[in-house]
Amino acid sequence: MSTIATNEYINQPEPEFSAEKMKEVQRIIGLFPEGKQKSALMRILHIAEEEFGGWLSVPTMNYVARLLNIQPIEVYEVATFYTMFNIEKPGKVVLEVCRTGPCMLVGSDQIIEHIEKKLNIKAGETSADGIFTLKTAECLGACGYGPMLQCGKHYHEHLTPAKVDELLDTLRKEHSDK
Ligand code: FES
Repeated sequence: MSTIATNEYINQPEPEFSAEKMKEVQRIIGLFPEGKQKSALMRILHIAEEEFGGWLSVPTMNYVARLLNIQPIEVYEVATFYTMFNIEKPGKVVLEVCRTGPCMLVGSDQIIEHIEKKLNIKAGETSADGIFTLKTAECLGACGYGPMLQCGKHYHEHLTPAKVDELLDTLRKEHSDK
């Protein structure tokens, strides 16, 4: 896995929001008092991720830093701390399996291992066909429904290996020719 420092996209030019997105970004920044623009960072990073291919490259993070008038390192710190941000180009489908205590007690480890075997990857990697990226996450707020995973805006709960197989098959069909 690459790091920010070795990321192959590091020298690409900074992207730019469309005029329409920029309006929205400026509106969000304007919600905070002068000098406190950094408070908009998480929201802007989500927008940047949506706009620029589902992940935050170094040039994208530098661009966000410039918009907020903060140091790039302040953006890197946030983007690398929260698992919901992708700092490497992900597959078409990102699976985030919760591995915090309550989910672990009901088998999240086995679910992670099962997905790793099925896709022939380790957590943090993308499958050879470029479809799936497997990540682990801390509590996703569905502790009573574990083991669980998040895929985009959807939660998949009370997982078993059979349910995971079914889910992977469905997702593969949906995304294989896109
Ligand atoms: Fe898994 Fe909370 S511990 S959702």
